[in-house]
Amino acid sequence: MGVCVSGRGSNLRNLVERGFDVVAVASNRPSCGGAAFAREHGLPLGELSQKSFASAEDRDAAMRDFFTGHRVELVVDAGYDRVHSQNFLAAFTDRIINVHPSLLPEFGGGMDAVERALESRAARTGATVHVVTRDLDAGPILVQEAVPVHEGDTVETLRQRVHEAEHRILPQAIRLMEARLAGRGQGA
Ligand code: GRF
Repeated sequence: MGVCVSGRGSNLRNLVERGFDVVAVASNRPSCGGAAFAREHGLPLGELSQKSFASAEDRDAAMRDFFTGHRVELVVDAGYDRVHSQNFLAAFTDRIINVHPSLLPEFGGGMDAVERALESRAARTGATVHVVTRDLDAGPILVQEAVPVHEGDTVETLRQRVHEAEHRILPQAIRLMEARLAGRGQGA
Protein backbone atom coordinates (compact mmCIF):
# COMPACT_ATOMS: atom_id res chain seq x y z
CA MET A 1 0.00 0.00 0.00
CA GLY A 2 0.95 3.65 -0.39
CA VAL A 3 0.28 6.08 2.45
CA CYS A 4 -0.37 9.84 2.11
CA VAL A 5 0.59 11.96 5.12
CA SER A 6 0.63 15.64 6.04
CA GLY A 7 0.90 15.56 9.84
CA ARG A 8 2.24 13.78 12.87
CA GLY A 9 2.16 10.36 11.22
CA SER A 10 0.93 8.28 14.14
CA ASN A 11 -1.34 6.23 11.87
CA LEU A 12 1.56 5.54 9.48
CA ARG A 13 3.73 4.49 12.41
CA ASN A 14 0.97 2.21 13.70
CA LEU A 15 0.63 0.47 10.31
CA VAL A 16 4.37 -0.09 9.99
CA GLU A 17 4.65 -1.36 13.56
CA ARG A 18 1.82 -3.81 12.89
CA GLY A 19 3.68 -5.16 9.89
CA PHE A 20 1.54 -3.78 7.07
CA ASP A 21 3.28 -3.70 3.71
CA VAL A 22 3.82 0.04 3.20
CA VAL A 23 5.77 0.29 -0.06
CA ALA A 24 5.69 4.08 -0.49
CA VAL A 25 4.79 7.24 1.43
CA ALA A 26 3.78 10.52 -0.22
CA SER A 27 3.60 13.88 1.48
CA ASN A 28 2.69 17.40 0.47
CA ARG A 29 4.54 18.55 3.63
CA PRO A 30 8.07 17.11 3.56
CA SER A 31 8.81 18.56 7.02
CA CYS A 32 5.92 16.75 8.74
CA GLY A 33 6.33 13.96 11.28
CA GLY A 34 4.99 11.33 8.87
CA ALA A 35 7.62 12.21 6.25
CA ALA A 36 10.36 12.13 8.92
CA PHE A 37 9.16 8.67 9.99
CA ALA A 38 9.33 7.43 6.38
CA ARG A 39 12.92 8.70 6.03
CA GLU A 40 14.00 7.16 9.34
CA HIS A 41 12.57 3.81 8.32
CA GLY A 42 13.93 3.83 4.77
CA LEU A 43 10.48 3.91 3.17
CA PRO A 44 10.42 5.42 -0.34
CA LEU A 45 9.18 8.99 0.17
CA GLY A 46 7.56 11.19 -2.47
CA GLU A 47 8.15 14.80 -1.40
CA LEU A 48 5.42 16.62 -3.27
CA SER A 49 5.19 20.18 -1.97
CA GLN A 50 2.60 22.21 -3.77
CA LYS A 51 5.22 24.93 -4.35
CA SER A 52 7.13 22.57 -6.67
CA PHE A 53 4.14 22.29 -9.01
CA ALA A 54 2.14 24.72 -11.13
CA SER A 55 -1.19 23.23 -10.06
CA ALA A 56 -2.81 20.70 -7.74
CA GLU A 57 -3.45 18.52 -10.81
CA ASP A 58 0.28 18.48 -11.63
CA ARG A 59 1.15 17.57 -8.05
CA ASP A 60 -1.40 14.77 -8.03
CA ALA A 61 -0.22 13.44 -11.40
CA ALA A 62 3.28 13.21 -9.87
CA MET A 63 1.84 11.46 -6.81
CA ARG A 64 -0.03 9.01 -9.05
CA ASP A 65 3.15 8.25 -11.02
CA PHE A 66 5.17 7.87 -7.82
CA PHE A 67 2.67 5.35 -6.42
CA THR A 68 2.17 3.40 -9.63
CA GLY A 69 5.98 3.26 -9.99
CA HIS A 70 6.07 1.51 -6.61
CA ARG A 71 3.23 -0.83 -7.63
CA VAL A 72 0.84 0.58 -5.06
CA GLU A 73 -2.56 -1.12 -5.17
CA LEU A 74 -4.22 0.51 -2.16
CA VAL A 75 -3.83 4.17 -1.13
CA VAL A 76 -4.31 5.07 2.54
CA ASP A 77 -4.88 8.72 3.44
CA ALA A 78 -3.59 8.81 7.00
CA GLY A 79 -3.78 12.43 8.01
CA TYR A 80 -3.51 13.78 4.47
CA ASP A 81 -4.83 17.35 4.34
CA ARG A 82 -5.51 17.79 0.63
CA VAL A 83 -8.35 16.67 -1.65
CA HIS A 84 -7.14 14.39 -4.46
CA SER A 85 -7.55 15.66 -8.02
CA GLN A 86 -9.62 13.74 -10.52
CA ASN A 87 -6.52 12.33 -12.25
CA PHE A 88 -5.45 10.67 -8.98
CA LEU A 89 -8.97 9.44 -8.10
CA ALA A 90 -9.35 7.92 -11.57
CA ALA A 91 -6.07 6.01 -11.27
CA PHE A 92 -7.13 4.43 -7.95
CA THR A 93 -10.92 4.21 -8.20
CA ASP A 94 -12.36 2.40 -5.13
CA ARG A 95 -8.80 1.82 -3.91
CA ILE A 96 -8.29 4.93 -1.75
CA ILE A 97 -9.35 4.99 1.89
CA ASN A 98 -9.28 7.81 4.43
CA VAL A 99 -9.34 7.94 8.22
CA HIS A 100 -11.46 10.74 9.67
CA PRO A 101 -11.68 11.76 13.34
CA SER A 102 -15.47 11.60 13.80
CA LEU A 103 -18.41 9.29 13.36
CA LEU A 104 -19.27 10.33 9.82
CA PRO A 105 -21.53 11.82 8.61
CA GLU A 106 -21.27 13.81 11.84
CA PHE A 107 -18.53 16.44 11.82
CA GLY A 108 -17.43 15.75 8.25
CA GLY A 109 -15.95 18.17 5.74
CA GLY A 110 -13.10 19.80 7.59
CA MET A 111 -9.96 19.45 9.62
CA ASP A 112 -11.36 20.38 13.04
CA ALA A 113 -13.77 17.51 13.70
CA VAL A 114 -12.57 16.92 17.27
CA GLU A 115 -12.91 20.62 18.15
CA ARG A 116 -16.42 20.70 16.66
CA ALA A 117 -17.49 17.61 18.60
CA LEU A 118 -16.33 19.23 21.84
CA GLU A 119 -17.91 22.59 21.07
CA SER A 120 -21.26 21.03 20.21
CA ARG A 121 -21.29 19.18 23.56
CA ALA A 122 -21.91 15.87 21.80
CA ALA A 123 -22.05 12.88 24.16
CA ARG A 124 -19.86 10.90 21.79
CA THR A 125 -17.82 11.25 18.68
CA GLY A 126 -15.53 8.64 17.12
CA ALA A 127 -13.46 7.65 14.13
CA THR A 128 -14.36 6.46 10.64
CA VAL A 129 -12.52 4.83 7.76
CA HIS A 130 -14.24 5.28 4.42
CA VAL A 131 -13.59 4.84 0.72
CA VAL A 132 -12.56 8.11 -0.92
CA THR A 133 -14.81 9.37 -3.71
CA ARG A 134 -15.30 12.80 -5.26
CA ASP A 135 -17.59 13.75 -2.38
CA LEU A 136 -15.55 15.01 0.57
CA ASP A 137 -15.77 12.67 3.59
CA ALA A 138 -18.88 11.04 2.09
CA GLY A 139 -17.65 7.84 0.42
CA PRO A 140 -18.84 4.38 1.55
CA ILE A 141 -18.01 3.70 5.21
CA LEU A 142 -15.84 0.66 5.96
CA VAL A 143 -15.38 0.73 9.75
CA GLN A 144 -16.40 3.09 12.57
CA GLU A 145 -15.76 3.21 16.30
CA ALA A 146 -17.56 5.47 18.77
CA VAL A 147 -15.59 7.38 21.39
CA PRO A 148 -17.42 8.85 24.41
CA VAL A 149 -16.85 12.51 25.25
CA HIS A 150 -16.00 12.76 28.94
CA GLU A 151 -16.84 15.60 31.31
CA GLY A 152 -13.76 17.80 31.43
CA ASP A 153 -12.31 16.55 28.13
CA THR A 154 -10.01 18.98 26.32
CA VAL A 155 -9.23 18.89 22.61
CA GLU A 156 -6.00 17.08 23.51
CA THR A 157 -7.53 14.37 25.73
CA LEU A 158 -10.38 13.73 23.31
CA ARG A 159 -8.07 13.72 20.29
CA GLN A 160 -5.85 11.19 22.04
CA ARG A 161 -8.77 8.76 22.50
CA VAL A 162 -9.97 9.34 18.93
CA HIS A 163 -6.45 8.53 17.70
CA GLU A 164 -6.45 5.31 19.71
CA ALA A 165 -9.71 4.34 17.97
CA GLU A 166 -8.18 5.22 14.59
CA HIS A 167 -5.23 2.97 15.34
CA ARG A 168 -7.66 0.07 15.89
CA ILE A 169 -10.01 0.61 12.95
CA LEU A 170 -7.57 1.57 10.17
CA PRO A 171 -5.91 -1.87 10.25
CA GLN A 172 -9.39 -3.50 10.20
CA ALA A 173 -10.41 -1.42 7.19
CA ILE A 174 -7.20 -2.26 5.34
CA ARG A 175 -7.82 -5.97 5.87
CA LEU A 176 -11.33 -5.55 4.48
CA MET A 177 -9.98 -3.75 1.44
CA GLU A 178 -7.23 -6.32 0.90
CA ALA A 179 -9.85 -9.08 0.92
CA ARG A 180 -11.96 -7.12 -1.56
CA LEU A 181 -9.04 -6.46 -3.87
CA ALA A 182 -7.91 -10.08 -3.72
CA GLY A 183 -11.44 -11.18 -4.64
CA ARG A 184 -11.47 -8.77 -7.56
CA GLY A 185 -8.15 -10.18 -8.78
CA GLN A 186 -9.71 -13.65 -8.93
CA GLY A 187 -12.60 -12.33 -10.96
CA ALA A 188 -15.06 -12.48 -8.04
C1 GRF B 1 -6.11 11.86 12.28
O1 GRF B 1 -6.89 12.29 13.34
C2 GRF B 1 -6.96 11.63 11.05
O2 GRF B 1 -8.25 11.24 11.36
C3 GRF B 1 -6.98 12.99 10.42
O3 GRF B 1 -5.68 13.49 10.63
C4 GRF B 1 -5.13 12.90 11.81
C5 GRF B 1 -3.80 12.32 11.45
O4 GRF B 1 -3.08 11.88 12.56
N1 GRF B 1 -7.38 12.90 9.04
P1 GRF B 1 -1.63 11.24 12.35
O5 GRF B 1 -0.84 12.18 11.45
O6 GRF B 1 -1.80 9.88 11.75
O7 GRF B 1 -1.04 11.18 13.72
